[in-house]
Amino acid sequence: MAAAAHPVGKALLHPAAKPVLFAICLLPFAWLFYAAAANQLGANPAEALVRSTGDWTLRFLCIVLAVTPLRVITKTPALARFRRMLGLFVYFYVVVHLLSYSWFDMEFNVGDIIKDIIKRPFILVGFSAFVLLTPLAATSFNRAIKAMGAKRWQLLHKLVYAVAGFGILHFFWMRAGKNNFAEVFVYAAILATLLGWRVVQFVKKKRALPSPDKRSQLLNT
Ligand code: HEM
Repeated sequence: MAAAAHPVGKALLHPAAKPVLFAICLLPFAWLFYAAAANQLGANPAEALVRSTGDWTLRFLCIVLAVTPLRVITKTPALARFRRMLGLFVYFYVVVHLLSYSWFDMEFNVGDIIKDIIKRPFILVGFSAFVLLTPLAATSFNRAIKAMGAKRWQLLHKLVYAVAGFGILHFFWMRAGKNNFAEVFVYAAILATLLGWRVVQFVKKKRALPSPDKRSQLLNT
């Protein structure tokens, strides 16, 4: 069935769909901003801010990686319209996470931040995930995609596998001190499923292609 005729597909193509999703994606930030201003973040507001922005980074990573499997499985091509925005929200929340840490934990002392990143492996891993996310966010615009060419852009965006791995390792390492891994395993399972689905699709596509020998036979007939 064509996307436009499908009621869900139709709603997703509505001009208001993107602004509505944008507003929804900003809700966690708005809530945190309000809670911080209204002193509702508990006994340790700095820790609550760093932790919840870390959680939201990971949640948005799961959400953006779910778009393509959902689009393919539910045959809803209109979902693709939201991928870039959701990807940029991963970056938005990691920047807020980094800023919260730099401000509330380190008082914006660049020297101390660098020393901490080098000294604490879990921060180094989180920072590496942030560094790898930066080129993905920077090349998410049409002009960058055009300038790079679709093939190279797709290759660069494979970095998301490393981002997911580092994000989970960062979370795992942080929780190791408390021996509290339940949430880490839930996120790891979700990310492994979403990325595993892509690997399966890739292998299926490769298998469906005729071998080079068969291809040349076909060309010669
Ligand atoms: C893609 C990148 C990142 C992801 C997905 C991520 C995710 C997370 C998560 C899920 C938590 C734990 C929240 C909880 O306990 O509920 C966390 C905590 C934390 N992250 Fe990140 N993070 C990332 C990057 C960074 C960066 C760049 C820094 C700083 C340079 C950083 C510093 C911290 C700190 C200081 C904590 C809290 C540790 C504590 O309270 O003991 N993270 N992060």
